[in-house]
Amino acid sequence: MSDAVLVTGGAGFIGSNTAKALAAAGWRPVVFDSLAGGSRDVVRWGEFVQGDIRDEEALRAAMTAHKVTSVIHLAALTEVGLSMQRPDLFWDHNVAGTASLLRAMVACGVPRLVFSSSAAVYGRGRDLLDESLPTAPVSAYGDTKLAGERLIRDYCSLFGLSATALRYFNAAGAEADGALGERRERETHLIPLAIEAALGFGPPLTVFGDDFPTRDGSGLRDYVHVSDLARAHLAALADPPPAGRFEALNVGAGAGWTVLEVIAAIDRALGRPTPYVIGPRRAGDPAALVADPRRIRDRLGWRATESDLHHIVETAVRWRREANQPFPARVWPGALSKP
Ligand code: UFG
Repeated sequence: MSDAVLVTGGAGFIGSNTAKALAAAGWRPVVFDSLAGGSRDVVRWGEFVQGDIRDEEALRAAMTAHKVTSVIHLAALTEVGLSMQRPDLFWDHNVAGTASLLRAMVACGVPRLVFSSSAAVYGRGRDLLDESLPTAPVSAYGDTKLAGERLIRDYCSLFGLSATALRYFNAAGAEADGALGERRERETHLIPLAIEAALGFGPPLTVFGDDFPTRDGSGLRDYVHVSDLARAHLAALADPPPAGRFEALNVGAGAGWTVLEVIAAIDRALGRPTPYVIGPRRAGDPAALVADPRRIRDRLGWRATESDLHHIVETAVRWRREANQPFPARVWPGALSKP
């Protein structure tokens, strides 16, 4: 029987694409997800266990029942803006949740972890961030991802685990077959919101700031296609660092696009202008985040092959058009509003 990989957060956008890629490569994905942010209907590859990562007993039971040998840990709260309003929730889910997962791994003898980290750990962004730069997050989200990395590094040296943290840049796009697109309960990301606005399903997009030190004043990001991202997990799983070692690798395309350039690409893909207004900056947003992707290329032989902006936008538009109806209103559940 093939090796079982526990995929926490496997019912989300990146997690479901990763589970699909794992199954295609001969692994046995076991999705562990609370469904607080993900959808049951995208768990189509492997087994499903509904559970919360803060529930160590549930994790242990899943690892034992499915004979798990490695973990891909994606489950987390991820919205930068929300993290500035409710940092307490981010520490709980992203750090306490990761601690619970690590305890369960040690208890069950599961030695191998791939962790979803983020470019947000770098903080004050700039072009071509490489992994040797000092980390200095500017959002609570980034703080919790960095804390997660440090916790994992300590578990590696204490308990002999081997871990790769993948520092994602901006995940976007959809599978070429239109299967798994970006649709979160509380959508805050640029590309899906801009497409909603352009299709008339949502309000005009607000561009968060036009006074950044970038080529047109709007925020600059490195967009990486979700299929490229999924493939990075496979590469990391197949080639772990030695027992006791932790490593962090950027996963980005190595090129940045501004918010206004993304809007222009969406205009082009849809053949109509995206309605937008310029608003103030969003708390926690750095001016620019662009990966230097050399380390992951040298270490794992991975590089982005599907992350051209126009391809990302076209696949996202095609996927959204196939749904062809407004998604449910974006309401933040009471539990996530201000205390
Ligand atoms: N933006 C807008 N209007 C919106 C939404 C976003 O102008 O309505 C801008 C942001 O200010 C930013 C850019 O579009 O300049 C991208 O914003 P997203 O919200 O799509 O993504 P973020 O860059 O904030 O964050 C994403 C992930 C994080 C990850 C980060 C790494 O959500 O988990 O990429 O680069 F850390």
